[in-house]
Amino acid sequence: MARPPAPRFACQSCGALHTRWAGRCDACGAWNTIAEEAPLTAGPAARALAGRGRTVALSGLAAEGPEPPRAASGLAEFDRVLGGGLVPASAILVGGDPGIGKSTLLLQAAASFARRGLNCLYVSGEEAAAQVRMRAARLGLSDAPLRLAAETGLRDILTTLEAERPDLVVIDSIQTLWSDIVEAAPGSVAQVRAAAHETVAFAKRRGTSVILVGHVTKDGQIAGPRVVEHMVDTVLYFEGERGHQFRILRAVKNRFGPSDEIGVFEMTGAGLAEVANPSALFLSARGAAVPGSAVFAGIEGTRPLLCEIQALVAPAPPGTPRRTAVGLDGGRLSTILAVLEARCGIPFAGRDVFLNVAGGLRVTEPAADLAVAAALVSAREDVALPPDCVVFGEISLSGALRPVAQTENRLKEARKLGFTKAVAPASTTGTGTDGIRVQEMPDLATFVGALFGAG
Ligand code: TYD
Ligand code: MG
Repeated sequence: MARPPAPRFACQSCGALHTRWAGRCDACGAWNTIAEEAPLTAGPAARALAGRGRTVALSGLAAEGPEPPRAASGLAEFDRVLGGGLVPASAILVGGDPGIGKSTLLLQAAASFARRGLNCLYVSGEEAAAQVRMRAARLGLSDAPLRLAAETGLRDILTTLEAERPDLVVIDSIQTLWSDIVEAAPGSVAQVRAAAHETVAFAKRRGTSVILVGHVTKDGQIAGPRVVEHMVDTVLYFEGERGHQFRILRAVKNRFGPSDEIGVFEMTGAGLAEVANPSALFLSARGAAVPGSAVFAGIEGTRPLLCEIQALVAPAPPGTPRRTAVGLDGGRLSTILAVLEARCGIPFAGRDVFLNVAGGLRVTEPAADLAVAAALVSAREDVALPPDCVVFGEISLSGALRPVAQTENRLKEARKLGFTKAVAPASTTGTGTDGIRVQEMPDLATFVGALFGAG
């Protein structure tokens, strides 16, 4: 007699298969991610199923009819991050830390869409309808024709959606949903996956756009680990530092627009306000020229964004010195410190180094390298950079500087904000440089020598 198929366990984080349950996945090292998966149909039953499928209709690549128009909410920052508005039947995941402002943002967005004539529903599994109403009153949205439900049962929600056929439904949050086809607690990987799958399938079938809110866990993943991200068309993260009022909505995946696009908001007493000129905002608190500060001319998505990079270098107590980076990858900081030491002879041993991107911004572009190096050397040498100067460029391990993309946009934004000088890698010429003097640097040692007379 054939043995029954061996039970298969799969890591819900990396997908590795295991023959038995374990607390920790050997493959990726994650804890509590291994779960039993239903065995595949095999043997005679599988053979009986073969040949029973129907032929699916095939079509060509050319568009059939015009592209459906996108709906704009009128919140320009939100629409931009979506790639120019909401695409019908799209599924969007908005992730972020608890308390960062996801519910506020989506209530404002849903109300804006409703005011523009879309049939919108807001389903809250976290707050009672009265609480959402109170928030709406505080945000001045009470008059918007948005309908609310406080519900966590997926079956009832889908039945309601089937009857209402809205253009847009916001579900806050995916972790509170409870699907009756899975026997697991709400918020567990299995539930989140099943609930997201059913909702997204509904969106595609009925032409409703869905926005799912997902709380991010401590290690920065939407629970359960990434299972929802691949099911949806667009993944947006709402981020910001606690204690700062700036919030950034960042597209990390978008089937209908550029990824890496950002929208900038400010959390005020009356909800989230759009920030039309983020560079001015991120530089607004900058005082007189002080050592350890450099202005980086960056690009976020399709728009230039100037921000201040601050460094502090202080004598370290005996032992391993500290390397702290806020808003920048710690590995990148170590690399730049190593290049400064090896290629320019500027050691940081025996000194604590603290690096911060002002305003709670997170910078991921390699083009920030040169501004980071400038801030570090400026702090170490106690020499301020010229106040009207922006810096950008990628540093290679050899100490050479590499040109970066969109130089012209960076310079234009700098000029707009009153900067008159830029320090950039060589071969930055030929770009729109009127009104701004570009100092071209072939390598890091030349840069350090020219600006600080050190190295
Ligand atoms: P919320 O949208 O509930 O966060 P999330 O859904 O991501 O958990 O926002 C919570 C925070 O926002 C809360 O600490 C209060 C603050 N807030 C304001 O500062 N102004 C406002 O107008 C609103 C509605 C909230
Ligand atoms: Mg919330």
